[in-house]
Amino acid sequence: MIITVTLNPAIDETVELDHFVEGDTNRVASIRRDIGGKGINVARVLKELGYEPLAMGFAPGDLGRMIEDTLRDENIGVDFTFLDGVTRTNITILDRSKHRHTVLSAAGPYAHPDDIEEMIANIRRRLRPDTWLVLAGSLPPPCTGDVYARLVQEAERAGALTALDADGVVVRQVLEYGARPTVIKVNHHELQRVHGDPTDTEDEVFEAAETIRHLGVAAVVVTRGTLGSVALTPEADYRISAPDVEVISAVGAGDAFLAAMLLGLRRDEGWERALRQGAAASVACCLMPGSAECRVQDVQRLADEVVVKLVARHASVG
Ligand SMILES: Nc1ncnc2c1ncn2[C@@H]1O[C@H](COP(=O)(O)OP(=O)(O)OP(=O)(O)O)[C@@H](O)[C@H]1O
Ligand SMILES: [Mg+2]
Repeated sequence: MIITVTLNPAIDETVELDHFVEGDTNRVASIRRDIGGKGINVARVLKELGYEPLAMGFAPGDLGRMIEDTLRDENIGVDFTFLDGVTRTNITILDRSKHRHTVLSAAGPYAHPDDIEEMIANIRRRLRPDTWLVLAGSLPPPCTGDVYARLVQEAERAGALTALDADGVVVRQVLEYGARPTVIKVNHHELQRVHGDPTDTEDEVFEAAETIRHLGVAAVVVTRGTLGSVALTPEADYRISAPDVEVISAVGAGDAFLAAMLLGLRRDEGWERALRQGAAASVACCLMPGSAECRVQDVQRLADEVVVKLVARHASVG
């Protein structure tokens, strides 16, 4: 089973206007409302690829129930922990005339210590030796990476595997706590924030990722937007291309990468094939307007175009 954990879900509202005027009343051309949060994105991509995951995490207030209902309607299993308060809403204002977007991002509701313990207990009950636990996205206040670290350790105790996709500061907190996720997936900006290492060139990315792997993380996957991605895995180190496509929206491309890659690993397809599928899903996601939306036909077609190369390196961390 693949369990996705979303501790800070959101409602993503995209408001489109012909021409946005600050300080005036604006006529809205269209509104699109979607449920969001990185774990939820991963769950939806898994479903599109033919796998039925279990979505867990926090569901705050009435909108939290709406999120659960939406996922259930999509035939995704749900077992969220209820939280008082209101699910945060992220508003994107799209100005058609200037091709510009403005994002208003709200913080999530407060998770009290009792809520955190309840959520961890709920997840603990679901862990089995073959579970992949996916910890993705931001945390509600006042949580730090320690909450993810505890979940990683719970999973480890159950013999389960974990994947962490979070900002560099959170990744550092998880590592400092002493937890060791099986896989860490970050983009190169997030990687830079883990230990403050430079991550502009491919060599620098490999070196910064190697520092993390050296701590005892089995695999570190770093996505680099248009530049593709690199991966340090127990099998080998890889460079993965991103086929050139006309991008509609790259938001959530990293989540699509993580979902398809984990599905490959879950099916014991080996790292090379898992990374190919991950990259194909991420590029397929760029062809669609929403966040982390992709079509399985695009993923299958693009998988043949992705180039996965072995990288021979001399590890500089001793
Ligand atoms: N402009 C692009 N053209 C082609 N492929 C892209 C483009 N942007 C992203 N990708 C693909 O998506 C992958 C993930 O992108 P990126 O590094 O931006 O992830 P991310 O920052 O984690 O995204 P998010 O957190 O929004 O899901 C890349 O490795 C690449 O395969
Ligand atoms: Mg990401």
